[in-house]
Order: sequence, then C-alpha cells, then structure tokens
Amino acid sequence: MEISFSSVFIALAWLLALAIICEVMNHVVCPKRNVPPGPRPWPIIGNLNLVGSLPHESLHNLSQKYGDLMLLKFGSKPVLIASSPEMAKEILKTHDAIFSSRPALTAGKKNFLRHHLTEFILSIISRMVMSGTYHRDESIENLQDHHKAKGKEDSVPKDMVDVLLQLVDDPNLEVKITTDNLMGLILDLLTGGTDTSATTVEWAFQELVRNPNMIEKANEELDRTIGKGRWVEEEDLSQLPFIEAIIKETFRLHPLTPLIPPHYSIEECNVVGYDIPKGTMVFVNIWSLGRNPNYWDRPEEFIPERFLENDINIKGKNFTMLPFCSGRRRCPGYSFGINLVGTTLANLLHGFNWRLTGDIKPEEISMKEIYGLTTHPEKPISKIMEPRLPLHLY
Ligand code: HEM
Repeated sequence: MEISFSSVFIALAWLLALAIICEVMNHVVCPKRNVPPGPRPWPIIGNLNLVGSLPHESLHNLSQKYGDLMLLKFGSKPVLIASSPEMAKEILKTHDAIFSSRPALTAGKKNFLRHHLTEFILSIISRMVMSGTYHRDESIENLQDHHKAKGKEDSVPKDMVDVLLQLVDDPNLEVKITTDNLMGLILDLLTGGTDTSATTVEWAFQELVRNPNMIEKANEELDRTIGKGRWVEEEDLSQLPFIEAIIKETFRLHPLTPLIPPHYSIEECNVVGYDIPKGTMVFVNIWSLGRNPNYWDRPEEFIPERFLENDINIKGKNFTMLPFCSGRRRCPGYSFGINLVGTTLANLLHGFNWRLTGDIKPEEISMKEIYGLTTHPEKPISKIMEPRLPLHLY
C-alpha cells in the first residue's frame, strides 16, 4: 500500500493536536506545581545515590548548590530538606500544623566513658520514670506486671508509670490510653533521654581535651562558685555560665540528631512560593543551622565564649540552633536533658583532672562522626581521670 505525503502529514498533525490537548488537560486537571529545586532523580533510587554515610553533610553540600529549601526523592518518595534558620522557621513555626506528623517508619538500633555515661543516665531517668533501675534486657511487659502487682498492694501512685497505669483503660477519658500506648511512652522516655544526654557529654569531652585551657577555665569557675568541699547540684547550674556556654557550644557543633527525625506533611501547602505535595517527608538539617556563616563567626571552631557575650536560647525559640528542635514536636525532655547534661559535665570536671593517655597530642584528636540514631565521635579518645576533690567525697 502506498502511503501518501498528505496522509502522513494529517497523522502527524493529529498527534501534535493530541499532545497539546493532553498538556492543556494536564494543567487544568492537575496544574503544574512549582516545586523547590533539587537534583534530577534516577528511576527507582531517586537521589539516594547522592546521600553518603554522613547524610547531614551530603545534604548540607547539596543545599549549597540547590538552595536552603530543596526537594529530593528517596526512592520514589518526595523528601523536603530545610537547611537554613529561615527555612527551619517556615517548617517548624509558620507551617507547624501541617508538618508536625511523623511518617510511618521503623528504626533498628550501640568505649568505656560512653558505656558508663549511658548506664548512669539511664539509671537516673528510670528512677524518675519508674522509681527503679531499668536494665536494658528487661522487657517492658515485666515492668508493667511488676507495677500492676505493686499497685494492688498500694493504691497511692509513686512514679510516672504508676500514674499512667491508673489511666489505662479509664472509661472516663476522652482520649483513651491503651496498654500499647503506655508501653510506647515508657520506651520513648527511656530511649529518648539516655543516649542523647550521655553522647552530648561525650562530645563535650572530645572538644575539651583538645582545648585544655577551657578545662582550666571551667575548673576555675567551679572552684570559685562551688568550692572543693562538695559536688555540684542541679540548683548550682545557673551560677556556672562557662559550663553552660560549653554545653551550648557542644549542642551547636554536635547536635545529636543532625537531621531531625522525619516529619511529614499531612496536606499540600505552599512554602515561600513553592508547592509542597501532601505526604512529603521533611528533614530540618540542624547540623547546617549551627554552621551557617551568616549567623556564626568562625562556625567550625569550638568557642564557648561566644555564648557568654550572647545569651542564645537553645530551647527552640532561636532558629540559628535547634538541638531540641522547635514547634509542637519539640523534644519534650529538653529541660531534663539540659539539666542532666549540665550536672553530669559539671561534676565530671569538678571531681576529676582529665589527661590524655599515651603520647596523643590534643591536635591529633579526631572530630569525625559516626551517624546513627544519635551521632557519636568516630574515634572516642581514652582519658586518664584523677580525683580533684578530698577523697572522703568519692
Ligand atoms: C541532650 C538531650 C536531648 C536532646 C539533644 C534531644 C533532642 C531531641 C530531638 C531533636 C527530638 C526530635 C524533635 C522533632 O522531631 O521535632 C527529640 C524528640 C524526643 N525526645 Fe529528646 N532530646 C534529649 C533528651 C531527652 C530526654 C531526657 C527525654 C525524656 C526523658 C527525651 C524524650 C524525647 C521524646 C519522647 C521525643 C519524641 C517527641 C515526639 O515525637 O513528639 N529527650 N529529642
């Protein structure tokens, strides 16, 4: 059969018309979205090839190229990354109601100082939550049975678990608390508080042993304010501005969750002119905020003194550093966390002289990180501790 030039022309014209109609329909039915900039995704993996073993650093580097609000794909899922104080404020304050849910994810989840700090802090928290010491391998069900049995003998609640157990299955509550909710809450309180507080103290020491003059300055403050006759109490912390400054500077450079645990948009919304689809996973890069040269002088250096000059709020009001995040999903344990880190660090400095072992020089100490649920020093250094206080206090 002979195909004439005119019939080819007509077929092409039809195809072109069809393409134009589809494009127009596409805009009418589903108007083109103005999405934030970001790297072009690959099929199946999306942009996961661009995320290395330290995701906050990879995403920080990408934000230098694509901007402080960028859209990536992890597999086929859209992921929004906010990397500046301004964009963190948009997500966690301006549009807080839309971005404060969490995606349904599951996470799996471990040197001398680290182990002991964790156990010590776990025991303080468990004493507060459950008036007893929680052992890592003990099941929450056992604890619950124990508390239930105790409750039968004694009807006055003694700790947080007792109080919550009284609320479980209470028919008068508008929002019902189930046994599952309770177990989740206990686990959240135990795991949320231990690793975080212990690791902050670990990072503070990693920085301090590199800067022995700072240890001297802290000891001078402790001797002047507390004296050598006793340990530091929580009430003393407000009188120890240099210790507080060390803690703030540690939180700035080493936020424990450099990327906040993911939030999730429950509806489509517009952020600074960009359309963010419903169901987008959102990360705020806290690591980036604390290193932003527009807000921090010599951002890579550990300089606690900067906080003596400027009293910067670290509880979520100042978006240039957000160790506890901000908004309705902000860490509920922030006050407790700050006090726990403060008393632990102050007493370790007050009670002991710290020396590096062997022939390691301060400038050789690595500040590299290992990424995980919380971010730890890659090479924790061994230190020698000697008593500083009269021996009867130990
Ligand atoms: C140095 C100490 C701590 C730091 C740096 C820290 C930091 C954080 C951060 C960044 C979040 C995520 C917030 C968000 O997604 O927007 C969080 C959540 C949480 N933290 Fe902490 N935290 C600390 C101590 C504690 C303590 C002592 C407890 C409990 C006793 C605790 C319990 C929790 C819980 C239950 C959540 C989940 C909140 C939610 O999903 O709504 N944290 N924490």
